[in-house]
Amino acid sequence: MKALVWHGRNDIRFDTVPDPRIEDPRDAILKVSSCAICGSDLHLHNGLVPGMKDGDIVGHEFMGEIVEVGSEVERRKVGERVVVPFTIICGECDQCKNHNFSVCERTNRNKEKGDEAFGHTTAGLYGYTHLTGGYAGGQAEYVRIPYADFGPVKVPDELSDEQVLFLGDILPTGWQAAIQCDIQPTDTVAVWGAGPVGQFCVISAMMLGAKQVICIDNVPERLALAERNGAIIINFDDENVIHRLNALTSGKGPEKCIDAVGMEAHAPSMLENAIDQTKQAINLESDRPHVLREMMEVCRPAGILSVPGVYGGVSDKIPFGMVMNKGLTIRTGQTHVNRWTDDLLSRIQRGEIDPTFIITDTVSLEEGPEMYKKFKNKEDGCIKVVMKPGLERSVAA
Ligand SMILES: NC(=O)c1ccc[n+]([C@@H]2O[C@H](COP(=O)([O-])OP(=O)(O)OC[C@H]3O[C@@H](n4cnc5c(N)ncnc54)[C@H](O)[C@@H]3O)[C@@H](O)[C@H]2O)c1
Ligand SMILES: [Zn+2]
Ligand SMILES: [Zn+2]
Repeated sequence: MKALVWHGRNDIRFDTVPDPRIEDPRDAILKVSSCAICGSDLHLHNGLVPGMKDGDIVGHEFMGEIVEVGSEVERRKVGERVVVPFTIICGECDQCKNHNFSVCERTNRNKEKGDEAFGHTTAGLYGYTHLTGGYAGGQAEYVRIPYADFGPVKVPDELSDEQVLFLGDILPTGWQAAIQCDIQPTDTVAVWGAGPVGQFCVISAMMLGAKQVICIDNVPERLALAERNGAIIINFDDENVIHRLNALTSGKGPEKCIDAVGMEAHAPSMLENAIDQTKQAINLESDRPHVLREMMEVCRPAGILSVPGVYGGVSDKIPFGMVMNKGLTIRTGQTHVNRWTDDLLSRIQRGEIDPTFIITDTVSLEEGPEMYKKFKNKEDGCIKVVMKPGLERSVAA
C-alpha cells in the first residue's frame, strides 16, 4: 500500500510499504477514506520529537471503513464507517475506567520507554514516537487498529468525512482545553495560537459561555478566521501581548489562558527567540516555552492555565514563582478523546458545531509531502489539510 513515511527531519515521503495485517485477535484493519495533518505532526516533521525511527508511518487524525476484524472483536463490524481517536485505549485499565483515556496504562507497547521519558507511561498513540508505542499511523491507505472494540467511533452515513474527521483529535482537543478552564460567564479567555487547535479552543470557549475570548497569533488569515468566530484578536508582531491583554481586562489580566501553540512558539523578542532556538538546537532544552512564560505572567491571580499545546521534555526559565504566588492552576494533557466524542458528535448532528470551517486544502495522499511544507510555512493561507487516499493528485509533481 501507499503511506506517508518519516525518514528524518524535514523528510516525509509517499512510499510503498507492506499492507498492515491483523497481529492480535482484538485488531481490526481500516481502509482510510480521509486523514489530516495535525500541528503535532509538524513537531515530528521538524525533528523535535525524540524516539522516531526511519520508516515510521505517520498520521493520527483519520477515518474510514473497517474491512477486517480479528476473531475477538465483538463490537465493531466489517463495513462500519468510523473515526479513529489518536489515543489507543484498552477500555479496561484503571485510567480508562476513569475516562483518563490518553494515559491508558496498557496500550503503550514500549511501556518502559514511556516510563523513562514521562515518569509513568501514557497511552499508545498512532503515527507518533516509539516512546508512545511506535504504532503505524493513518496517513496511509490502510491502518491496523489495535483494541478495535474500544477506540473507533461509529459515525452516521449522513455526515460527510469533513464534518466528523476532526472528532479524532483537534475538535475534542479544543473542547477539552476550554472545559479545563471551568469557564464562568464573567471570564475572559485568552487563546494563544490561531491554528486549527486554537480555532476550536475559540469556538468552544464561546459555546461554554465566556464573556470575551481573545486570540493571539501573527498570521493574518488565521487571526481573521478567529475574529469571524467572535474573538478579539491580537497580532503579536504589532502589539505587546501582555499590555493589550491587561488593557482588555481593566488591568487585571484574563482569568483563563489557553496555550494552543506548544513547543515551537515564536517569541517577539529577538533575544528570547535566539536563546530558546539555540538551546533547542543543541539539546539544552527540548521545548520553546515562550507562551507558557507569557501566560504565567499575564494570568489573573487564582486563574487557570490550560495547555493543549504539546511539550516534549524540559523547558528553561519557567517563572514558577508567578504561578505559586498568584495561586494559578495548570491543567494539561494529551486529549482524552473518547471522553468527549459522543457529546461532540451529537452537537455536530444538531448543527451546533460545523468543524468544516477550518479546512483550506483537500488533496490526494500523494501530495502529502508538499502539504506538510505548505501547512508548516502557512503558504497560500493554508490552515488545515485533509488528504484522501482515493483522490488523484491535483497538481503535477
Ligand atoms: N493535547 C493534545 O492532545 C493535542 C492534540 C492536537 C494538537 N496538539 C498541539 O496543539 C498545538 C497546536 O496545534 P495546531 O494544529 O493548531 O498547530 P499549528 O502549528 O497550525 O498552530 C500553531 C499556531 O501558533 C502560532 N504561534 C506561534 N508562536 C506563537 C506565539 N508566541 N503566540 C501566539 N501564537 C503563536 C503559529 O503562528 C500557529 O498559527 C501543537 O503543539 C499540537 O502539537 C495537542
Ligand atoms: Zn494531533
Ligand atoms: Zn486502558
